[in-house]
This record gives sequence, structure tokens and C-alpha cells, in this order.
Amino acid sequence: MNYKEALQHNIFKIISKSASQLGFESYVIGGYVRDFILKRGQVKDIDIVAVGDGIKLAEQVAKNLPNNPQVQVFKTYGTAMLRYDDIEIEFVGARKESYTENSRNPSVKNGTLQDDQNRRDFTINTLALNLNEAQFGDLLDSFAGVKDLENKIIRTPLDPDITYSDDPLRMMRAIRFATQLDFIIEEQSLKAISKNSDRIKIITNERIVTELNKILESKKPSIGFLLLEKTGLLNYILPELTALKGIDEVEGQRHKDNFYHTLEVLDNISENTDNLWLRWAALLHDIGKAPTKKFSKKVGWTFHGHEFEGSKMVFHLFKRLKMPLNDKMKFVQKMVLMSSRPIALVNEEVTDSAVRRLMFDAGEFVDDLMTLCEADITTKNAKKFNKYHNNFKIVREKIVEVEERDHIRNFQPPISGEEIMKTFNIKPSREIGNIKETIKEAILEGDIPNEYEAAYELMLKEGKRLGLKVSVSQ
Ligand code: CTP
Repeated sequence: MNYKEALQHNIFKIISKSASQLGFESYVIGGYVRDFILKRGQVKDIDIVAVGDGIKLAEQVAKNLPNNPQVQVFKTYGTAMLRYDDIEIEFVGARKESYTENSRNPSVKNGTLQDDQNRRDFTINTLALNLNEAQFGDLLDSFAGVKDLENKIIRTPLDPDITYSDDPLRMMRAIRFATQLDFIIEEQSLKAISKNSDRIKIITNERIVTELNKILESKKPSIGFLLLEKTGLLNYILPELTALKGIDEVEGQRHKDNFYHTLEVLDNISENTDNLWLRWAALLHDIGKAPTKKFSKKVGWTFHGHEFEGSKMVFHLFKRLKMPLNDKMKFVQKMVLMSSRPIALVNEEVTDSAVRRLMFDAGEFVDDLMTLCEADITTKNAKKFNKYHNNFKIVREKIVEVEERDHIRNFQPPISGEEIMKTFNIKPSREIGNIKETIKEAILEGDIPNEYEAAYELMLKEGKRLGLKVSVSQ
């Protein structure tokens, strides 16, 4: 492979020149090199190691760049960042860690490139390209990272116990890379993750969620969640999911394993949407099943009200993980709450009024809800599978048909409360709500079209029934 191809952007020459002006060595390292070898899409950031002072190098590079970009310095980490041509470039000095006997905290010292490679997370992330003028473009592969890339293996450069205890988040990063790249985590590494899984407790929720989101955004997220479960990490991060594991049997009656079902739904939906929050909804759609599970002799296993319970749990889960408690969370809650509605609908004949009600309740998210419910069909019975999918197809067609006619999706009452008050010359009162509700119900039932004239007629009729008189000033 010609690694010089990876260094065609003029930034690399400028970094090289800046480093030699300061008498430093410099290298590109990590994700940029890895993704170049894997021919993996768009580059978003570049990591540079200086054998010398990383911050000084960043400042020198900024000076040499035509637009003299601002350098952001992170003193506590000894790193600096600048943006050029829409690329984030991060600079760090090569470091080595040494542990003194009376302190468990490492003291960070300047080191060589090899020292720096030693303390990185995975062999595939230790790959470095030389930016020094005489060896420009040479690959430095101290840990056979290229071989691991070829064999699709996640391996730590040092004893995995050391690498993971340096930064326990790496346990999640290993699983995230395995999922994104469809790689295997090497056996000793996997063992070390299982052994050290409780150390994830010292990692901030924000960093954990970043990795979870990357797993969810992968082509086949179940790879990651199976590994999280197998290593014990999932129990610390998302115990709501591990609670779904297992099949109970009472008097010969069994229910399905809702954990594996959930992962199937998640993979299904990932084939049909890139929407991260819809993927979250798939992951959490059944979490209410653990606390609502009951067995009765008459009907067997039930999970009554699990959708409502689940939507409440979404709030607590988002709060615990410090995820946004905004419209994204509300969207996930809504999907979980409504996740059984379409399937209930297709068990009977699909009527227009049932579709209108579904659209009224789901609003602008009705298509997302249908995507979730289609993904939720995991039955291995081919007859049932086809029947459900066909019925959902009918529901989707009816949604389009009804929407064209009745515009229910973003339902706005055709008659406002103000107009009702004016018509009957009344003050705010319960009657107004009653009349509005009657009009809405009539539209959803299909008794009247979603139009002003028809709604006005019904308002007059309903007012009369309630003993209201039309105002003379009308
Ligand atoms: N790194 C590490 N340990 C961590 C985080 C990062 O050793 N806990 C090192 C790795 O060498 C990694 C580099 O820092 O390649 C940059 O980290 P980051 O930008 O988080 O990851 P990338 O490898 O660039 O991959 P991605 O952009 O996909 O996250």
C-alpha cells in the first residue's frame, strides 16, 4: 500500500515543516491511518503526535497556515486542536506513563513514539505515518496492527488488564469497534473485559452514551449488545435490558425471550432507518415487559400495560444516563407507548376510523411508528409473518389515502374555542371543550369530513342540544 496517498492534503506538509522548524518529530496516528487502510469513507479528524510539545506544534502549524486558525488548548490534557478546511486536527506530545510505588496515579512523562503507541487502546489504533521529511509516508506498525486489520481482530497492544484499567471506557470502545467494523475481540481481551466490567462504573455517562450511540448507529447493532451482555457490561449500563432475558415456564406455558427478540427488532429496524432515536425506540420498546410480567392459569403469560410502564421507564433511563430530556426523549416515549397499536389494528379489519385514530395519536410520527411495528414482526411462522406484513401494507396505504382526504396527521381543530364562545356569546366553560371534542370525534369516526362548513354545522347542532343560543350579533 502506498501510504503517501493518505498524506496528499497540504496540511501534512505544513505539519511536517512546522515540526522540523521546532526540531520535533511528528506522526499521524490512530483512526485516520486505520480508516485509510480500511478505505473507510469521509475523514472527520486527524490525530497528530509530536515527539516534543504538542501545543507548541499546534501553534506553529497555525502560524504557517494561510488563514492562521485559532488554536484551542486543553492544558490539563496537554493537547491542542485547530480546525482547517473542515477537518479537526488534534495535537498531543508523545507520552509515557510511569507508576511510582507509593502512588497509584500515573505520572505522565514525555516519551518516544513507541512509548506513545504502547499506551493506546488497540493495535489497529497504534498505526502511525511518519511526517518527518526524510521518511515522509513511512508506516510505523510496532504491534502488527495491519495484520490485525486484515484478520479483523481487536487486540490491545499491552496486557489487556493494563490497557483496560488505564481507561475502562476502552472496554466499550472494543465492543463498539467490533460492531462498527464487524471485527472479533481477541480472547484474552474479551476475558479481561468480563473480569473488569464493574470498572465501567467510574466512567461518566456521557462517554458511555457516545459509545452506545455508535453501536446503535452501526449496520448490525446486535453484535454490540450481545457482547455487552456477554461481558457483563450491559447489566451496569442498561439493566432494563438484561431484565428481559430468559424464558419462564409455568404449567408448560412459555413466553419468548424478550432480550433476543429486542435485538432482532433492532437489527430489523436498522435495515430500514438511520434515525438514531427510532433505533433507541426499538431497543427500548419492550422494557416494560419485565416489571409487568404475570402468569395466570386462564390466559398464560401477560404483560398488561407494558407500553405505558415502558414509556415511563424511558424517562428514568434517559435521566440516569444524562441523555437529553427533550423532544428526542419524548419521541422515544411516544414510540414505546404506541408500539402495540398498529398490531392491535391488523388483527381485525382495518377500518378508516381506526387508521384516523392512529394518525391522530401518532401525529407526524405515524410513519416511524409503522417502521417500528414492521420491525417488531419476528415470528418464525411464515404464514403469520406474511399476514402481518400484508396487513401493515394495507395500513400504510390507508394512511396515505386518509391523509389526502382528511389531513389528520397534524390535526388542527377546524373550529376554535374562540369561535364557539363568540357564536354562543359564552365565557370560557366546559361546554366549549365538549363541543370541540364532539367535532373531533365525528371527524375521526368519519361522520363528517375534516372541513370548516361541516364542523360549523355540527357546532350549531351540538350547541342547541346543550341549550345554548346563537348570539344575535352573529
Ligand atoms: N485512544 C485511546 N484510548 C481511548 C481513546 C482514544 O488509546 N480511550 C487513542 C486511539 O489511538 C485512537 C485515538 O486515541 O485511535 C483517537 O481517538 P478517537 O478520536 O476517540 O477515536 P478514533 O480511533 O479516531 O475513532 P473514531 O473517530 O471512530 O472514534
